[in-house]
Amino acid sequence: MKTIIEPFRIKVVEPIKMTTPQEREEALQKAGMNLFLVPAEEVLIDLLTDSGTGAMSSEQWAGIMRGDESYAGAKSYFRFEERLQEMTGFDHVLPTHQGRASERILFELVGGEGKVVPNNNHFDTTRANIEHSGASAVDLVVDEGKNPRDRSPFKGNLDVAKLERLFSEVGPERIPLVMITITNNSGGGQPVSLQNIRDVREVCRKHNKPLFLDACRFAENAYFIKLREPGQGDRSVAAITREMFGLADGATISAKKDGMVNIGGVLLLRDEELYRQAQNLLILTEGFPTYGGLAGRDLEAMAQGFEEVLHEDYLAYRLRSTEYLGVRLLDMGVQIVEPPGGHAIYIDAKSFCAHLPPEQFPGQSLVCALYRHGGIRSCEIGRVMFGENATMELVRMAIPRRVYTQSHVDYVIEVIGEVYERRQALKGLRMVYEPPALRHFTATFEEV
Ligand code: F0G
Repeated sequence: MKTIIEPFRIKVVEPIKMTTPQEREEALQKAGMNLFLVPAEEVLIDLLTDSGTGAMSSEQWAGIMRGDESYAGAKSYFRFEERLQEMTGFDHVLPTHQGRASERILFELVGGEGKVVPNNNHFDTTRANIEHSGASAVDLVVDEGKNPRDRSPFKGNLDVAKLERLFSEVGPERIPLVMITITNNSGGGQPVSLQNIRDVREVCRKHNKPLFLDACRFAENAYFIKLREPGQGDRSVAAITREMFGLADGATISAKKDGMVNIGGVLLLRDEELYRQAQNLLILTEGFPTYGGLAGRDLEAMAQGFEEVLHEDYLAYRLRSTEYLGVRLLDMGVQIVEPPGGHAIYIDAKSFCAHLPPEQFPGQSLVCALYRHGGIRSCEIGRVMFGENATMELVRMAIPRRVYTQSHVDYVIEVIGEVYERRQALKGLRMVYEPPALRHFTATFEEV
């Protein structure tokens, strides 16, 4: 087989700034060793997130010019609505400014004191919105999903037995809906199988509860299904996508991921009454239902993005280029969450910095080392983010869509390799400033 290449050529370029080790050290100290607080200009390769950081296509930019900015009933809204209806089979499509706005509306309506919302793994904003409503958020991912070395094909699956147990323990009346995150971001970007969605749907049907998808990375999940699930290899990603959404009663989507845009979100609903209530909340805080806090041009770009993301040559390149980074790291002896996920590679910082105890934030120490050594920005997903609840110490390198070339990735591999050679020199950290909530965004550190 020939090399899988980037299925696009570059039309516009954005220079990135080379910095000296001394400049990076200064930026790091000024930011209290928190990479969220380092100005983006001081970063050479930015792998902080794949959210809103992708490159739009020439057709998307053309759509930006075509955007209809009418307050109500804009042409761009109808194009967006039609695209989502066709792709997902849902009738009711609400635009929002990003994923968490969809979550906030949904959980204001179905959450509340005493309620319990299960998921494979809640993303942090989903959890925060559920808890903000007074409800509690429960993670029920399969056990394989918690072991970085387990190579099962669908480590994002929701454990059906644990879900049944939750229903009998807390009682169906306290569970307003069941959610599945595809792919499972907090669990290493691992996919969920079609069979698992069907099985969870069956449990929901039994208890007469709606199933919702947190579908930010639905296209990557659908392509994993095509590659890995028995009997799915000959189907189109579009058909698999339609079936995944067809099994659900609703979905929240951050279009900043597989929507291929810099800003935007979606709330999909089947239930008429819930839709009407959501529409009212949308008007209250986001905007009229035909723009939902976005410009008409954003809706145009989303409609086009949701089209392009299902191109299978794009998805083959996307998953393969992420896998390439992962496989090269494994070859060097760097333990990652296996098998590689769709949008990111997660380094197991516990084994990378085996000499550092968890209280000294090994993940954050590695994040700082990658920046110091090569100007790479990554993100700790461990003790800093989740406190004592952290089950793993991970460093996520998320890959923006259609942004970096293979030589950028080769550079990242070299930097990690050199840091790995000298890993014994990495120092532990202590938290100097600890904000009360979502502390990873603003906490500051110093070396122990
Ligand atoms: N759900 C999942 C699974 C996500 O990964 C995100 C965002 C959201 C919901 C919220 O969407 O940012 O548009 O409000 N994840 C980004 C990340 C921020 O870096 O993984 P949003």
